[in-house]
Amino acid sequence: MRPILPGSTIGILGGGQLGRMTAMAARSFGYRVQVLDPDPSCPARFIVDSCFSAALDDATAAADLARGCDVVTIEIEKIGLDAMRAAEQHAPVRPGHEVLEIIQHRARQKDWLAKAGVPVGPYRVVTSAAELERAARELNPSTGGDGELFIKAAQGGYDGRGQAQMHASTDSHKAWLYLGAEVCVAEKAIAIEKEISVLVARRPGGQTAVYPAALNHHQNRILDWSVIPAPIELALAQRAQQIARTIAEKLEIVGLLAVEMFVTTSGELLVNELAPRPHNSYHASERANATSQFEQCVRAVCDLPLGSTEVQKPAAILNLLGDLWLAHSSPRFDEALTVPGVRLHLYEKQVPKAGRKMGHLSAVGETAHEAVERVKQAKALLDKVQS
Ligand SMILES: Nc1ncnc2c1ncn2[C@@H]1O[C@H](COP(=O)(O)OP(=O)(O)O)[C@@H](O)[C@H]1O
Ligand SMILES: [Mg+2]
Repeated sequence: MRPILPGSTIGILGGGQLGRMTAMAARSFGYRVQVLDPDPSCPARFIVDSCFSAALDDATAAADLARGCDVVTIEIEKIGLDAMRAAEQHAPVRPGHEVLEIIQHRARQKDWLAKAGVPVGPYRVVTSAAELERAARELNPSTGGDGELFIKAAQGGYDGRGQAQMHASTDSHKAWLYLGAEVCVAEKAIAIEKEISVLVARRPGGQTAVYPAALNHHQNRILDWSVIPAPIELALAQRAQQIARTIAEKLEIVGLLAVEMFVTTSGELLVNELAPRPHNSYHASERANATSQFEQCVRAVCDLPLGSTEVQKPAAILNLLGDLWLAHSSPRFDEALTVPGVRLHLYEKQVPKAGRKMGHLSAVGETAHEAVERVKQAKALLDKVQS
């Protein structure tokens, strides 16, 4: 297989912030970049050579994009499988539709993980309110169905959307109607001590590079802040890396694979979910690691040697949600940038909405703790009133 060298054109299906940051890394290597996104002013728009405005399941548009590209990658798992197959007729698409078919459907993904022998929490796939009620009883047998469950629509959810929490089997009907999905995954609520993730890059020939784990803090089921390296025991971090590498190899993915995991209060490591693309919890890799996740994505899909994942300095990121703009017409970026080691990335999204990721702050520190404290301090300063 021949590498796809700088000067060639990379296509990205999806033009959100992940596509934008991948495009920035590709550009700095001297690639041309084209994206496809339903929103003509998507975040990647301002970085790329051309932007195809079309739905993510538009097979004709995906084929048009791929026709002008040397390789195509994705920044979101919600791409229509027909669109993936149509693009594959014209250029290598990395990762391909086989991987997406498994990952973009939560039930298929969970069943695949369980069958592959990957540790996952107790769950049931359900297709009706009655099945959900039975699942609640089976997942909490000692209490007759009382106990917290997470119910997740099999398709389309993200950042905690398409999910409901349920406390008793008697709530099944309400939860089922609320989600309005045909297939859901019902999961027993895990007693979580920490959430971590591990990113793996894999080239077409099978070479992999695994990143040190990130520690992730969520608020309202949305990632709030994240730090690399996760300040956790080495043995636990190594176990997490091993699990992530094994999944990437079994999936035979080409590109990036992010593996979200729970560390339970009893010290168990359970895989929560997979993402076949750059991941929010590795935005800090731009500052922490010798090779950022975005550059690594470009290297992997272009079949270039993978870069070192070594940590050069601990770094953290903190997400800026639309809520910030809804509360303050102009957040005090001038104040936030006074904190040492802090940088800002805004994604140029036109409309702030509650829970919408608009940008992030990043910071390096001497320790992971210091990096996190710095992004938190900078965030607090954004709220300062203009005097
Ligand atoms: N089974 C569970 N037990 C406890 N917490 C959970 C469970 N499932 C999800 N959560 C919480 O909700 C967050 C979002 O859920 P996740 O499945 O990762 O969906 P999303 O695709 O929205 O990221 C998780 O990071 C975790 O904090
Ligand atoms: Mg998640």
